[in-house]
Amino acid sequence: ASSLGAAASAKGRYFGTAVANNHLGETDYAATLNAEFNSVTPENEMKWDAVEPNRGSFSYTNADKIVTHAKSHNMQVRGHTLVWHSQLPGWVGSLGADELRTAMNNHITSVMTHYKGQIAAWDVVNEAFQDGSSGARRSSPFQDKLGNGFIEEAFRTARAADPAAKLCYNDYNTDGVNAKSTAVYNMVKDFKTRGVPIDCVGFQGHFNPNSPVPSDFQANLQRFADLGVDVQLTELDIEGSGTAQANNYATVVRGCLAVTRCTGITVWGVTDKYSWRSSGTPLLFDGSYQKKPAYTSVLDVL
Ligand code: XIL
Repeated sequence: ASSLGAAASAKGRYFGTAVANNHLGETDYAATLNAEFNSVTPENEMKWDAVEPNRGSFSYTNADKIVTHAKSHNMQVRGHTLVWHSQLPGWVGSLGADELRTAMNNHITSVMTHYKGQIAAWDVVNEAFQDGSSGARRSSPFQDKLGNGFIEEAFRTARAADPAAKLCYNDYNTDGVNAKSTAVYNMVKDFKTRGVPIDCVGFQGHFNPNSPVPSDFQANLQRFADLGVDVQLTELDIEGSGTAQANNYATVVRGCLAVTRCTGITVWGVTDKYSWRSSGTPLLFDGSYQKKPAYTSVLDVL
């Protein structure tokens, strides 16, 4: 195939990228995006601080531009993200429990209703678990004031708002079998047992020398898939360069393709030039939009 998106599509999957609205006007950026990818995730434009900076006052201008761009180029959109402790405006954290519950549900309902029918999958809850061996929930206004049940409540509210959207739980350091991923696994298993609506689990896939691609990556995806949810690589980037980086990308793509329910891969940016890892080169196109060895390796595996 002639592009990442076309190659993934031939295998029944999508190949996406995070997109920042403020770069869409750059010719090389837009050309690379349009030529290669068939799914986009707004990198920041759908986060709580961007769409509801003040309570009850919603601003969708920048997110809408990405959705419009995606639609006109036949790309699907991953919605990112509804409930997260980060990039959360201060007013949310200062609410008491009852008001916080109301605000959380109103946020989910409002944003999902605005985009109803236009979002393939939503990251309903992002990064709710702690790193390390405890398997515990991370402290956040939602966790601290509403308790463990906030995740279930968020998913139920999300299903009611847009029944056509796939509802995902998304996290990092969950790519291999470890205490954190097992805690997420147990939550998903419990949700499936009790009929709490969840359709997919997102694995961010931010890899670097301190956090390499785990040897049990594919096995971990498979154990989640076996619970009856789709799995997706949602924010893939791999620090490094040359052959080593290319091989790591190949391992991740092979792992996804080997799992029937792994429905797609999203890299966290079009070009190294704008990676959130400002000093790194973790993506498939270099700072001049040239294809890197990692690009060729991904296309070969797809
Ligand atoms: C990052 C963006 O890439 C940056 O531009 C922003 O400053 C911070 O957030 N996990 C997530 C993403 O779920 O939303 C984060 O994106 C990266 C880590």
